[in-house]
Amino acid sequence: MREHIETVRHYHEVTKHHPRHYARGPGQLDWSTQPDPFRRYAGAPLYKLELHSDTDGPGYDAIWTRGQIQPSPVDQHSISQFFLDSLALSAWKQAGGSSWSLRVNPSAGNLHPTEGYLVCGAIDGFCNEPMVAHYAPKEHLLERRMAIPPALWQRFITSLPHGAMLIGLTSIHWRSSWKYGERSYRYVHLDLGHALAAVRFAAAGLGWGTCLLDQISTMEVAQILGITDPAGVEPEAAGCLLLVTPGGACHPVQGRDGGVLAEMATLPREGRADRLSSSRVEWPLMEEVAEASLKPSDCPSYPRSMHPDSGATMPMRNLALRTIIHQRRSALDFDGSSGMPRSSFYGMLRRTVPHAGSTPLAVFPWAPMVHLAVFVHRVEGLGSGLYLLVRDPNQHQRLRLAMNLAFEWGRPPGCPDGLGLVQLLTGDMRKLAMQIACVQASASDGCFSLAMIADLEKAMDNYGAWMYPRLHWECGLLGQVLYLEAEAVGLRGCGMGCYYDDLMHELLGIKGSEFQDLYHFTVGRAVDDPRITTLPAYPNDG
Ligand SMILES: Cc1cc2nc3c(=O)[nH]c(=O)nc-3n(C[C@H](O)[C@H](O)[C@H](O)COP(=O)(O)O)c2cc1C
Repeated sequence: MREHIETVRHYHEVTKHHPRHYARGPGQLDWSTQPDPFRRYAGAPLYKLELHSDTDGPGYDAIWTRGQIQPSPVDQHSISQFFLDSLALSAWKQAGGSSWSLRVNPSAGNLHPTEGYLVCGAIDGFCNEPMVAHYAPKEHLLERRMAIPPALWQRFITSLPHGAMLIGLTSIHWRSSWKYGERSYRYVHLDLGHALAAVRFAAAGLGWGTCLLDQISTMEVAQILGITDPAGVEPEAAGCLLLVTPGGACHPVQGRDGGVLAEMATLPREGRADRLSSSRVEWPLMEEVAEASLKPSDCPSYPRSMHPDSGATMPMRNLALRTIIHQRRSALDFDGSSGMPRSSFYGMLRRTVPHAGSTPLAVFPWAPMVHLAVFVHRVEGLGSGLYLLVRDPNQHQRLRLAMNLAFEWGRPPGCPDGLGLVQLLTGDMRKLAMQIACVQASASDGCFSLAMIADLEKAMDNYGAWMYPRLHWECGLLGQVLYLEAEAVGLRGCGMGCYYDDLMHELLGIKGSEFQDLYHFTVGRAVDDPRITTLPAYPNDG
């Protein structure tokens, strides 16, 4: 275990960006080997999904309170809606002579290393037998990779809640490393966290629960999904299995049947994965950290922590969930002048903290391990400065001791009870925020931007090196929450994987690797590029 932690530490250190020295990447992009963002399994039986979306679906705010949405029955219609709202295309874009697609889930560089799978029992009118199927977002259909004998499926689901399905997420590293080289292991897992959150929100819209199935090993995830034999094409690395419970709330399950998992691994595969590029560059450091971060099969017990609910009810706005999900975009630019009301700012931050009864964040079994260092630029009624949102109140003192002792730790005006926000520094942070985010103006031209500070050493000491990708999933989930929350108040967000790690640590006074900056995000009033036109995600769609 110690060597694995050392490998992760080393990887994290050498993949930091510094102002004069970026993490090792390919230098120039080789467009001739750009990987295809869409994988298909030639010869696999196909299951068509409907393109029709329920526009009169649930309200956006309804997904934030347990029990607000009646569970939908599992059928072709709801499965179609589920994929449309999670991993499907959201639009095609066109400019000059080129066109590119966008998806419901964002991805660093729009490279989309994440692939999705459905593991389900027989569904009336849709599939006659249990199966593992790969989701093809461009065509919006499922490709069956394995038929599961019903008796084996029965044994598989005995330990799971009644009617449960699984969603598998995997990553094709080469799609991201083609552009980002060694740092891309981080991006791949931030992307996976965004996809995981997208799945969570789509399920919530159908009244279904979702939680991480955490008591199996990464190798077992690969076996269940049938991705262990790349057969000469770009390999897919197993990420996670999410338990989806159409009956309602999802609770992590205990226990596992190793015999059933071994039998699943021997099922014949259907379809043959296509090749995504003519050749590829190996990044051994990335594969080393991936190997060191594989989860073993034991099931840790995590302490849970919930913020006490302030009792303040969040407003139920007239916003359709699916409109928000499908209109989500990354801001290309911000206007550099618009502000936002303080109440909206606090409302957004509250949504990033798990409260008793708030469902979307309950997907992970562990207490929050990521805290938000927020650069406030333009929030009406709140002074510019550096703030910290402590997402697990039990870590307040540790964070205080780990950071610059001269920080103010003052309570911001009007801050709701139960929101662990403190002010660390007062003053204009725009230049600093921009410099730290690889000099990207979007970090200073919005209303606020932030850095996600993870409790890295403690997570690895308590559980193992395999928490490294999981911390990135937590950051990706927070990013997805902020993307949707920004849309809900008429603003726009953007994830930022490019930042100078140690400049942020210096600003916070963090020494050593106890707490590490894993992701940045920015929110503001977006300015669109008039040269880019938008086309529907699918033919005959809107
Ligand atoms: C993990 C991650 C890192 C990102 N990093 C940056 C960044 O540093 N700068 C930037 O302008 N956009 C960044 N983005 C935004 C992506 O470029 C954007 O998601 C992608 O182009 C797809 O567009 P969409 O989000 O509108 O669907 C990032 C997105 C993700 C998910």
